[in-house]
Parts: sequence; C-alpha cells; structure tokens
Amino acid sequence: LTAFFQPKLLAGKRVLITAGPTSEPIDPVRVISNRSSGKMGYAIARAAQEAGAHVTLVSGPVALETPYQVRRINVETARQMHATVMSQVDDADIFISVAAVADWYVSNASDIKIKKTSEQATPNLQFSPNPDILAEVAALKNGPFCVGFAAETDNLIEHAQAKRQRKNVPLLVANLAQRAMNADDTELVLFDEQGHMHWPAQDKLLAARQLVQNIAQRL
Ligand code: CTP
Ligand code: CA
Repeated sequence: LTAFFQPKLLAGKRVLITAGPTSEPIDPVRVISNRSSGKMGYAIARAAQEAGAHVTLVSGPVALETPYQVRRINVETARQMHATVMSQVDDADIFISVAAVADWYVSNASDIKIKKTSEQATPNLQFSPNPDILAEVAALKNGPFCVGFAAETDNLIEHAQAKRQRKNVPLLVANLAQRAMNADDTELVLFDEQGHMHWPAQDKLLAARQLVQNIAQRL
C-alpha cells in the first residue's frame, strides 16, 4: 500500500540490475562462488519496478522469487553475466551492479568429474580474471547512470572511496560484508563525489526504496 501511494519517480526509465553470486565451474559437479543471497539486488529490482521503471534483472543462482513485473534473465558464470549485460545495456538508463561477481574463473575446468586419486592429492586449479562488468559499463560513451556496490570486511571508508574512483562510477553503495550477508536488514554507506553518508540499519526493502529515490534525484 505504501508503494502504491509513492510518486512514480522512475516512470518510463529502463533499469538494468545484476544480482546474486556468479558460479564458476571446477568440473560438472563443483563450483567456486561468492556468498550472496541476492536479497539486496532483488529488493532494488522490486523498488525500481514500484517506482515505475521497466526492470531487467540479470541474476546468478539464488533461491528467490522474481519480483512482480520484473524481467529476469538467469546466468551462472561471470562471463555469461557479462555477455548478457552487454546485450541489454544499450536500452538502459540506469545500471545497478549488485551482483557478487567472481573475480576469477577456473581456466582448466574439467569436462568430467575430477576423481580423488589418493587421500592426499589436491587438484591444480588455474585461474584467469573475469571481465569487470561494472567498470566496462561505466566506461561506455553515452552509457547508463551507473551504481556500484561493495561489500567490505574492513577499512570500509577507504576501500569504498578508492573503489568508486577506480570503477569511475558516480555512486557506490558500501556495506559491511559480515552484517549484510544473508540478513534481511542492511546498513548502507553511500559514496559520491561530494563524500559519503551513512544510513542506519533498516530492512533491505526499505533501504532499496530509499536508494531508488536517491538515484532518481541524481538523474
Ligand atoms: N563487479 C563487476 N564485475 C566484476 C567484479 C565486480 O561488475 N568482475 C562489480 C560488482 O557488482 C560491484 C562492484 O563491481 O558493483 C564492486 O565489486 P567488488 O568485488 O567489491 O570490487 P572489486 O573491484 O572486484 O574489488 P575486490 O573484490 O578486490 O574488493
Ligand atoms: Ca571482487
């Protein structure tokens, strides 16, 4: 009901969101992934839809229902997420990168299940870097307004400030990984070129609505 009476701040805007973890195969039955429930990204997708936007959600594997009237595209690996985002980004006014993207994939993944050959032997995994989806979208000419996320375990202010500049995004939203992970509430710190502001802990959907309002004001 609250949502119904809110002004439609993003009416007609097209919003592209990534959410959840990516999952990088080691072999057909094993993966390397990140800890991400997808709750924050899905809450933002819902809040943007409530605000009148056309929302496309590119999602890694999560156990969540698709928000009402949100177009969802499922992916597994970071390379799939990258290809999907690049195929959708021309249509987007806003890109919100909430996914916990794996930084590396296993470049010598096996087509068949790796067997334990002895009690002591461990596989020799080799890694290659994944594309940085947010940095690439942020570098596009006439690209969408970009919002990054960062979950940090320590030195949040310094890490997040440096990250915003490195990725070259106007807005970066940070939280403490230990607090937000799989929780229903979150405590966000917003970084922009002016500085940073701290929002008290609140339910993820309320935080998502406040963030959508904040983004709409920046357009
Ligand atoms: N991101 C992305 N593609 C990647 C890695 C990260 O799009 N390959 C996005 C995330 O969705 C997030 C932002 O970049 O919006 C920051 O991600 P994070 O992992 O915190 O930053 P990194 O630059 O990978 O730094 P590190 O993992 O070393 O903290
Ligand atoms: Ca990373």
